[in-house]
This record gives sequence, structure tokens and C-alpha cells, in this order.
Amino acid sequence: MDAALQKIDVAADFLRSKGARAPEVGLILGSGLGGYAERLEDAVHISYSAIPGFPVSTAPSHKGEMYLGKIFGKEVIVMSGRIHFYEGLPVERIIFPVRVMARLGIKRLILTNSAGSINLDNGAGHLMLITDHINLSGVNPLIGPNADAFGPRFPDMTKAYDPELRQKIRKGAVKAGLSVCEGVYAMMSGPSFETPAEINFLRLIGADAVGMSTVPEVIAARHAGLQVAAISFLSNMAAGVLDQPLSGEEVVDNANRFVDDFTKIVDIAIQA
Ligand code: HPA
Repeated sequence: MDAALQKIDVAADFLRSKGARAPEVGLILGSGLGGYAERLEDAVHISYSAIPGFPVSTAPSHKGEMYLGKIFGKEVIVMSGRIHFYEGLPVERIIFPVRVMARLGIKRLILTNSAGSINLDNGAGHLMLITDHINLSGVNPLIGPNADAFGPRFPDMTKAYDPELRQKIRKGAVKAGLSVCEGVYAMMSGPSFETPAEINFLRLIGADAVGMSTVPEVIAARHAGLQVAAISFLSNMAAGVLDQPLSGEEVVDNANRFVDDFTKIVDIAIQA
């Protein structure tokens, strides 16, 4: 077995030894959104640094803990805190946790992030179901020898964000009275926020929101055949839309203010 795959299996075995039996759903929680993990029943949490081979997150407001537990009768595995490409690790390290979750047998991966809103119709505070993405990070996590144990050399990305699942989440969200929109997410590497000229460019090429995460994990998840849903919390208007500077603190403060809506939509996505 190749060494990379072996490391993934070692991490998966470690998580099994800590109680991961047959998780159905994986959940990755973004900036300021990590508190959702506290909702799990019978939860065990394990610091990333204790999991063999796991990358460790350095981003502020990202705790870096894996939670194993149950919610709505489903066994789930939750990453509270993700690793971003801008932290400097090679992109194949960023997708390591997704592959570990795939190895543990999850069928669905739900990803969340905070993003800047480019589309003037979607104000800050909205939730956006991601319909598609534009990868402007400059990297693709599948570059290198193909991991045949997970999927094909050239994975299809046509319906990367499962349309049926998305429709179910949308219906559930509307019923729950949440203000939810749909749109295209563009990934930039960060860590500097975008310039106003970059935001104009992203609007022209069809992006509705911009962020610094999610795309590598989605590519790895689709490679592994997982069903994917992703939700952006639009924490701010993107650069240049308002006449004010952006800050990481603003992103986290806004996420904290809308935590109830966020909790509701993740509940819906897990049950859908
Ligand atoms: N740009 C990039 N990433 C982000 C933003 C933004 O405006 N807001 C939250 N994450």
C-alpha cells in the first residue's frame, strides 16, 4: 500500500479506536462557526494534534478539534476548525481529513464557511447554498499521482454540489423562515482580502461570494464519490462594495451574531 494511503488508514483506525463506528455524515465548520459541534450527543472530542498525521490549524477562531457523536439519530463526524491553504501547508495536507472521513465510510460531506458577498442582492447576514465554484486558489489538491483507492484520475465536477440535496436544504430553510440564497463561490488563496478590482473581476466571471477555503475539500470529496453540500455564511460585503475596510474580526463577530440561523440550516442539511 502506498505511504500516503497508509497514513490515512492509521488516522482512520485511531478515530475508530476513539469511538467512530460508522459515521454517515461528515461536517466541516468554518470561521466563527465551530460552536455547532457542541450540539452532538454522546460526543467525544479529540484535538487534531492527537490524531496521527492530521494537519493542525493555526487560524484564529479555529479550535482544531474532531468531534464524534450523534445528532438526529445519525452518527456524525465533525471538524471544528479547518485548515486553510494560506496557512502554508501543501494542499494535499488540507484534504487529508476529508480522505480520513471518506475512509471511515461517510456518505455525505457538509461544508460551511464564512464568505464575502459579491452579489449586491445578497446582503451580509444571509446564508448562501453553494451551487458551484470557481477555483482561483492556484492549486488543485489532486495534482500528483492519482489516489486510485479513492477515485478516478479525472473526476467529474458537473454536479459537485448535489442538486437534490440542495433542493431539500433550500425547502427546509424556507420552511424554517431562514433567509437563504444560492450562488457560485470563488476561492482565492488569501490571506489578504481581495482588492476592489479583484471583486469586480469575480463579479464579471459569475461569482456571488468569495472565500479562502472549501474548494480543495470539495474536490477531494467528489473524487471520493461523496455527496456534497456547502453553505456560506455571508459575513460581510466583499471589498470595495462598502466604503470601509475588511477585517477578520468582523467576519467572526458577524458569524457569532447569526449563529442561530446557522445552527438551523446545518440541522436541516444533516437531516435532509
Ligand atoms: N473575502 C475572502 N474570504 C472571506 C471574506 C471575504 O470578503 N469574508 C469571509 N471570508
